[in-house]
Amino acid sequence: MDKTKILFVCLGNICRSPSAEAVMKALVKNRGIEEEFEIDSAGITGYHAGEPADQRMQRHALNRGINLTSISRQVKSPKDFDYFDYIIGMDDQNMDDLYGLSPSDKSGKISKMTDYCSHHQNASVPDPYYGGAAGFELVLDILEDACDGLLNHIEANVK
Ligand code: 4NP
Repeated sequence: MDKTKILFVCLGNICRSPSAEAVMKALVKNRGIEEEFEIDSAGITGYHAGEPADQRMQRHALNRGINLTSISRQVKSPKDFDYFDYIIGMDDQNMDDLYGLSPSDKSGKISKMTDYCSHHQNASVPDPYYGGAAGFELVLDILEDACDGLLNHIEANVK
């Protein structure tokens, strides 16, 4: 069976999307189904390309046992839109940018992270970059909820 390929996208690929990547990887690993998935992340911008995740985000994630290992890169069009099955933005600006970058016949692959939440009402995963500790914790809370819902959604679609 082909792997399900997921790309998480935020603005800089140093806070939210690398965290989503790591949370999702931990989730599928815990369920023993990591071989069925390819999971990556990227940024709308390349401002932080080549950098590891933001130190504050790394610290908050590690407190939950989540190790952020990815290195920032920019989204590539059309390559990423051809390759990945799910392209998932974190907020409405990411969504607008992704629709703008996507070839028109691939835009059905795009969705918003919070659409998969079942416990959080947030309409986006808020950018934590210029805020304090609570913002980083909220990102992780929302992502844990959304990744669980995303996996349920994928499993319901695949089977
Ligand atoms: P991210 O957070 O999109 O979740 O990675 C940000 C990282 C960097 C900047 C903005 C948001 N920045 O302006 O440099």
